[in-house]
Amino acid sequence: MSQEQVKEKIKTLTEELNYHNHLYYQKSQSEISDYEFDQKLKELEKLESDYPELKLPYSPTSRVGGTITKDFETVVHKYRMLSLGNTYSFEELEDFDTRVKKGLGTENYEYFCELKFDGVAISLIYENGMLKRGVTRGDGTKGDDITNNVKTIKTIPLKIDNALTDSFEVRGEVFMAKGLFTELNEERVKEGEIPLANPRNTTSGTLKMQDSSVVASRKLNCYLYTYLDDNESFETHEESIHFLEKAGFNVSQTYQRCNSLKEVFDYINKWDEERHTLQVETDGVVIKVNSIDHQSELGFTAKNPRWAISYKFKAESASTRLRDISYQVGRTGAITPVAELEPVFLAGTTVKRASLHNANEIERLGVQVGDTVSVEKGGEIIPKITGVDKSKRAHDSVPIQYIDRCPECETQLVRSEGEAQHYCPNTEGCPPQVLGRIEHFISRNALNIETLGPRTIKGFLSKNLIADYSDLYHLTFDQINNLQFEEREEDGDVVKRSIKEKTANNILDSIEKSKEIPFERVLFGLGIRYVGKTVAEKLAEHFKTIDQIRNASFDEIVAVHEIGDRIAESIRSYFSNPKNNEIVDSLKSSGLKMVLEERAGAGDQLKGLTFVVSGVFDGYGREDLKNLIKNQGGKIASSISSKTNYLVAGANMGPAKKEKAESLGIDILDEDAFNQLLENDKNRITE
Ligand code: IVH
Repeated sequence: MSQEQVKEKIKTLTEELNYHNHLYYQKSQSEISDYEFDQKLKELEKLESDYPELKLPYSPTSRVGGTITKDFETVVHKYRMLSLGNTYSFEELEDFDTRVKKGLGTENYEYFCELKFDGVAISLIYENGMLKRGVTRGDGTKGDDITNNVKTIKTIPLKIDNALTDSFEVRGEVFMAKGLFTELNEERVKEGEIPLANPRNTTSGTLKMQDSSVVASRKLNCYLYTYLDDNESFETHEESIHFLEKAGFNVSQTYQRCNSLKEVFDYINKWDEERHTLQVETDGVVIKVNSIDHQSELGFTAKNPRWAISYKFKAESASTRLRDISYQVGRTGAITPVAELEPVFLAGTTVKRASLHNANEIERLGVQVGDTVSVEKGGEIIPKITGVDKSKRAHDSVPIQYIDRCPECETQLVRSEGEAQHYCPNTEGCPPQVLGRIEHFISRNALNIETLGPRTIKGFLSKNLIADYSDLYHLTFDQINNLQFEEREEDGDVVKRSIKEKTANNILDSIEKSKEIPFERVLFGLGIRYVGKTVAEKLAEHFKTIDQIRNASFDEIVAVHEIGDRIAESIRSYFSNPKNNEIVDSLKSSGLKMVLEERAGAGDQLKGLTFVVSGVFDGYGREDLKNLIKNQGGKIASSISSKTNYLVAGANMGPAKKEKAESLGIDILDEDAFNQLLENDKNRITE
C-alpha cells in the first residue's frame, strides 16, 4: 500500500468503527458482529503502530486506554461550573416558581425537566469538531484534565460532524451502570477485595485513575445535558438538547418540556416511581427555565443559577427496631458491628441486618439497643442506618458499650492510630481468623483445593491435625482416613461426621495438585491484608520471587506501580512476624511455587479479550485451551457477563450458557472459529 492508500484506509476504518461504536453503545444496534468489529479494530491498530504519524486524533483505538497519567493538569473552566440550589418539597418548588414569575415579569414561560443523575460532572471541550479535553468540575473554577480517561467512555464522541462553531463545550454526568457496579463488586468480593461503596464514588475514583486501560475496563457511561458556546446558538434549552442528540451525544431519553408547575409535579411523581428501573442512579429532578433569553434575564446568584433548581427525591427508607448489635470477626481480625433489626420490607427486599461499620459510626448515630431507627438503601448493597428516633427511646435504655474484647477469643482488641476499625490481634489463636485464613487459602482464586470445605477444615482444626494452611501439606492418609469429628450446627445441634476412604484420597490428591498453582495465586492465598488478587499479580510480576518480596523495603514496595503506603505497610508487617515466615518456609519446602514462571511461548494476540470456555473439544483438553488463551494474554472468566468477549463452545455445553451469551449479544465461537481467531492473529503478528 502507498502512504496515500494507508492514510485513506486508516480514515475509512476509523470512521467505520466510530459509526459502529455509536450504533452499538447508544442505539443498542449492530450491523456487524463483534468478531468483525474486533478484526477491523485490530487492522487499524496494526496500521497505526506501523504509521503512527497517520493516526487520527479521533481514532477508536484511544478507547482501549493504555496511557498512564501521573499528575493531572489543572485547567481553568471557560464558563464556571456552578451547582444547583436544592429543594425537598413541592412548596419549595412553588416558591421557586414564584421567584421565576416575578423575575421575568410574565406568566409566559416554560420549564424543561430532566433527571438529576447521580454521577460525576464532566466538561468536554470540542475544537474543530474534535474532542480536545475532558475536565472534572473541581472547585467549579478549575478542574483536572482527565482527557485520556474520558476518551475510554464509548458513548462520548471523539469527533462530531455538525459543529456550529469552532469551539464549544458540552457538560454532563459520567456514571457507572448499576448492573456493572454490582458485577464489579461481586467479582471483588470473590477475589477477597473490599467491596466498593456505591456507583458514584466508584465512578469518581475510576476517573482519577492513572492507568487509562483500567478506566476502559470499568465501562463508564455519560449523559450530556448542557451545551455552551460564545454565540448563544439556540433559543431554548430544548433545542440545544436536540442538537446534542443529533450530533451523536448520549442524551438520556427521560427529559420533558413542561408548560406548568403542575406538569413539573407530575414529572417528579412519575420518575420518583420509575427511576429504579433505570441503569443510572438518580437522586432527583432538575427543573430548568427553557428559554435561553429567560435564563439570561434571571441570571445567577453567587453560587447558583436563578433559572434552574433541583428537587431531591426522598431516599427509600423504613423504620424498624434495633434488636441487638452483634460483632463479626473477619479473617484479618477486623471487627464489624452489625445491627440486628426487626425484619422490615424495604425497596423490594426484607432487611434484617445493617452494617454499622465501626465504633465511630455508632457514636455518630448515638444509637442504643431497642431504639427505633430508620434504615435506607442508597447505592450501597448493604442497607445502612441513617437516623435514630430518640423520642421513642425507652427510659431505661443505656448507651452502647463497644466491646473491648474479641467476641470469639476474648483477646483485648486494638485500634491503631487513625484507623476506624478495631482488630483482634490474636491472629494465631482466634478461631474465625484461623479458619478464615485457611478458607481463603483454599478458595478458587487462590490454591483452589476444591475437596476441602469449612466443615472438614473445622474437623482438622478440632483434632489438632492442622494449625495453619501450611500444615495441609503434611496431612497423611492414615491421619484423615476414617477421621471422626463433631460439628455444631447453627441451631446448636451436634452432628457426628467421618471421612471415608475415597474422600480422604480425593482430599490428598487435590492438595497435591495445588502445588502446581502459580506463584501469584499462592501469594494471594497467604491472605496478607490488602493484598487482593490484582495486587498479588502486580507484586509477583515485579519482584518475581517470595524472597524478593519478603526482603523488600517499604520504599521498594511503594515503588511498584499502583501499590500505596497502606499495602506496603501491611506486607512489611506480615513478614516481620516470624510465625508467618515459618509458614512460608514450610510451604516452600512442601514444593509450592514461590517463583514467578515466565510463560513459555507467550504472546499477546488475545490481549484485552475475555473468554468463557465451556464444553469438550476435539483438539484440546479444556484446561489446555484455557492456558493457551491465557498465554496469549486473554482472560478467562468462569461465567458469562457483559464483560465477556467470546464464549468458546465445545460439545455438550449447557443450554443456559448459550442462552445467556445470546441474550447479551456475545459472540459464540466453536472450535474451528476459535482456531481461526488465533490463526488470523498469528498472521497479523508475523506479517
Ligand atoms: S444542569 C448550573 N442537569 O448536579 C448548574 N446538572 O448541583 C447546571 N447534575 O454539577 C447543571 N444531573 O453534576 C444539570 N440533568 C442535569 C443534572 C445535573 C445531574 C449534577 C451536575 C451538577 C450538579 C448541580
